Amino acid sequence: MTSSDSSPTYGTAATEVASTRPVTIPSLHALYRANTPIVMVTAYDATFARMLDDAGVDILLVGDSLGMVVQGRDDTLEVTVDDMIYHARCVARGARRAHRVVDMPFLSYQVSPEEAVRNAGRLLAEGRAHGVKLEGGRAVAATIRRIVDAGIPVMGHVGLTPQSVHAMGGFRVQGKRPEDAERILDDARAVEAAGAYALVLEGIPGPLAERITEAVSIPTIGIGAGVGCSGQVLVCYDLLGMFKALQPKFVRRYDTWYERGVEAVRAFCDDVRARRFPGPEHTFGLPKTGG
Ligand code: KIV
Repeated sequence: MTSSDSSPTYGTAATEVASTRPVTIPSLHALYRANTPIVMVTAYDATFARMLDDAGVDILLVGDSLGMVVQGRDDTLEVTVDDMIYHARCVARGARRAHRVVDMPFLSYQVSPEEAVRNAGRLLAEGRAHGVKLEGGRAVAATIRRIVDAGIPVMGHVGLTPQSVHAMGGFRVQGKRPEDAERILDDARAVEAAGAYALVLEGIPGPLAERITEAVSIPTIGIGAGVGCSGQVLVCYDLLGMFKALQPKFVRRYDTWYERGVEAVRAFCDDVRARRFPGPEHTFGLPKTGG
């Protein structure tokens, strides 16, 4: 089976999904038409990519959220194209079947359409991405068109757009006022008309996300946008509970990795200090000498 074979063969069990063909844009669109929710999770390295892929995730997003969760910054603004390529290559080595989308970082697509096409092309050629994601609506529609015309699939992203954190006055839910809701709906339509194959809806009221999902003919993938989208995305570190401090309202923690990690490493510290580790089973001996 080749990656160009796009016929969808999805079952219901994750293990069944994990053993099937590569996820492609046509197979994602088939899920959308069948009203089957699409699952996207962020990944930044090979080990996580393999784990998420084995779990049956449809799309791995190499998000510029890596600026916050991997690099420890307060926002995503300092992330570079080279950073994204580095992490995208790691993810590509670990992934087996999931569709891989890589974020275009701040200032990699806003300056000129030519630079945008060049940077998007680098994410595909060097980062081994299947598609790129960029933030914004009507203001970036012409740029999306240019990238799509260069043969590079684009996923849009409207609503709360983290690269505009300062313009928004912080990471705040968008589209609560009727005029803002209309603008976000218009943004979504502009992104679709520009040729995007899917659209992230972030940090908007559930009813607005439902309205947008009905208004456009491409899959919407929500984060903090309620259940009425065509799919959902979470940051893997949030999903697994790797941050103790940060628990946004829209995140469901499916594990408590941070706490469990602290407990496991404490046990290791205790064993080392008490000389309980390494044991004989972890220790290499010398070959027996003949007598
Ligand atoms: O960078 C990211 O992780 C994202 C998701 C939150 C959608 O853009």
